[in-house]
Amino acid sequence: MPQIFPRRANSLVSAMLWGGLVGGVALVIVAITLGSSAHTTGVNSTPEQPVPFSHGHHVGGLGIDCRYCHTSVEQSDFAGLPPTSTCMTCHSQLWTSAAMLAPVRQSLQHDKPIAWVRVHDLPDFTYFSHRAHVNNGVGCESCHGRVDRMPITTQQKPLTMQWCLACHRHPEPYLRPENRITALGYDPAGDGIPGHELREHYGIRKDNLTECVTCHR
Ligand code: HEC
Ligand code: HEC
Ligand code: HEC
Ligand code: HEC
Ligand code: HEC
Repeated sequence: MPQIFPRRANSLVSAMLWGGLVGGVALVIVAITLGSSAHTTGVNSTPEQPVPFSHGHHVGGLGIDCRYCHTSVEQSDFAGLPPTSTCMTCHSQLWTSAAMLAPVRQSLQHDKPIAWVRVHDLPDFTYFSHRAHVNNGVGCESCHGRVDRMPITTQQKPLTMQWCLACHRHPEPYLRPENRITALGYDPAGDGIPGHELREHYGIRKDNLTECVTCHR
């Protein structure tokens, strides 16, 4: 994804958030300048990958659960990417000589991770946590869309501050029961338990969710 103001903007915003410099005015100026720049959205961004890995085939077709590959998503801020050995549980037998799997074989041979290109990438001055969401009723699909239909992984949501805040102000219509967190095609607002019951079940307190320090720390 093209980054228009990479480092400079990150440190500028951090300085403002932390130092409280000229306060409101400066924040508004930065917000206007950066708010419309390309790095804040990136919807439909589909970077080319070293191996054309398809969630469509592996999730949609074979039905493998997200947590088989993204093993740290419930315990850590990061979902994590699978090591090559995970691919090899199947690909040491399957498609063993396919050209498109050459980087996978080389990675194993040289004991070097595959150089996947990031699809989603928040600016450094924001804090995000997978654990906080997937253990509180927010499913992968709410933020990543129908990966089971993606031949190549694409960013589906804008990931802007406005987008985060819209849910933080009013999360009820997006909440799912524990056993539907990685399910795809589930409609939290229509299919399931009413949102306010789930909010109580998870003990979600909305008061601090819109405070700056929740996401900028
Ligand atoms: C067989 C392993 C496997 C399974 C199962 C799997 N993934 Fe992935 N996932 C990967 C690999 C490899 C990548 C890195 C390549 C890419 O971006 O496509 C990836 C990348 C991603 C990314 C993009 C990461 C970034 O760079 O921003 C998201 C989002 C994602 N997976 C979500 C999911 C979800 C949601 C599920 C379950 C519905 C899932 N994955 C199931 C292997 C898997
Ligand atoms: C549980 C078994 C399993 C695991 C784990 C697995 N694959 Fe696959 N993979 C398959 C099967 C089966 C196919 C053939 C799918 C088809 O043609 O529908 C396949 C196909 C592929 C293809 C060919 C293109 C396509 O999607 O059809 C690529 C590339 C690929 N896998 C990469 C990977 C990578 C990279 C990993 C590790 C992140 C991985 N696979 C993990 C079973 C697996
Ligand atoms: C509330 C929204 C949200 C939910 C729910 C969510 N993600 Fe993410 N995911 C993100 C954001 C935002 C990023 C980019 C993080 C960054 O740049 O620091 C991301 C990044 C990723 C990545 C890239 C590697 C990483 O750890 O940063 C993977 C893989 C991923 N998500 C998989 C998943 C899976 C699997 C689930 C469900 C079990 C899930 N996500 C649930 C928003 C979400
Ligand atoms: C679809 C709904 C939804 C979206 C989208 C979403 N969140 Fe959340 N977020 C929640 C819920 C629900 C919680 C859990 C609140 C709790 O712990 O009680 C949460 C918790 C958090 C927490 C932990 C708060 C704490 O005090 O522990 C952080 C940090 C966070 N979100 C950041 C983000 C960021 C940054 C984005 C946008 C990139 C985002 N969220 C998008 C629903 C969402
Ligand atoms: C729920 C998470 C969340 C909360 C709460 C939040 N922000 Fe943000 N903020 C983000 C994310 C994500 C970005 C980066 C994406 C973007 O720029 O929209 C961002 C970007 C920014 C930027 C860069 C300018 C811009 O719009 O790109 C500023 C300045 C900022 N936030 C200030 C604040 C202030 C001040 C507060 C409190 C009133 C606040 N934020 C509360 C998530 C949050």
